[in-house]
Amino acid sequence: MEPQFWHDRWERREIGFHMAKPHVALERHWNSLALPPEARVFVPLAGKSLDLIWLASRKQAVVGIELSPVAVQEFFEEHPEASGIDLRCGDLFELTPSTLGAIDAIFDRASLVALPPAMRADYAAQLTSLSPPGTQTLLITMEYDQRQMRGPPHAVMPDEVHALYGATHEITELEELTALEDFPRMSARGVTHLAERVYRLRRR
Ligand SMILES: C[S@@+](CC[C@H](N)C(=O)[O-])C[C@H]1O[C@@H](n2cnc3c(N)ncnc32)[C@H](O)[C@@H]1O
Repeated sequence: MEPQFWHDRWERREIGFHMAKPHVALERHWNSLALPPEARVFVPLAGKSLDLIWLASRKQAVVGIELSPVAVQEFFEEHPEASGIDLRCGDLFELTPSTLGAIDAIFDRASLVALPPAMRADYAAQLTSLSPPGTQTLLITMEYDQRQMRGPPHAVMPDEVHALYGATHEITELEELTALEDFPRMSARGVTHLAERVYRLRRR
């Protein structure tokens, strides 16, 4: 999947992944990460997500990375008062621990599942290399029958989460959410059952 794929999606306004409200898992599970006060939170593949606003509203420093300048510009136009949010325009795979800086937590919604299978090991390795020991991640995956629809978003099943992160992270499954009513375009494309699964990962 080339960067141009995402640039085209933003130029053509094909951004059905963008949600009008923060993800429900934040309200339900973010506290379980038990982060230090004023933690620094990293949001990879951030889009112009309202999750950034929710995270910053909790007095956390938020740093996001997003490939599309259109997305970054729209985010700051739509939230002129946003403070404590460092949304950078660039490629996740070019970040280093020193350019990103120390982080305490990661929020991954519609990021791992945005990538095709062949890219996901590199993605997990990159996030792992950017995570100091103790970093906590709230990860939300999607599960559906991939024969019914071609991603993105892709289905990422629990065995894959364990294959990607099991050697480097403690993995706790927190909740399975039934989600089809929130994704009418997936249902229109033939998906009959959809779940989101919420995980907490702790970097060893
Ligand atoms: C499916 S969207 C999800 C955005 C956001 N997490 C949300 O929930 O709305 C994936 C985003 O990742 C961005 N993206 C894809 N590859 C990227 C990369 N290598 N580095 C940074 N951003 C990337 C795309 O431009 C797109 O905005």
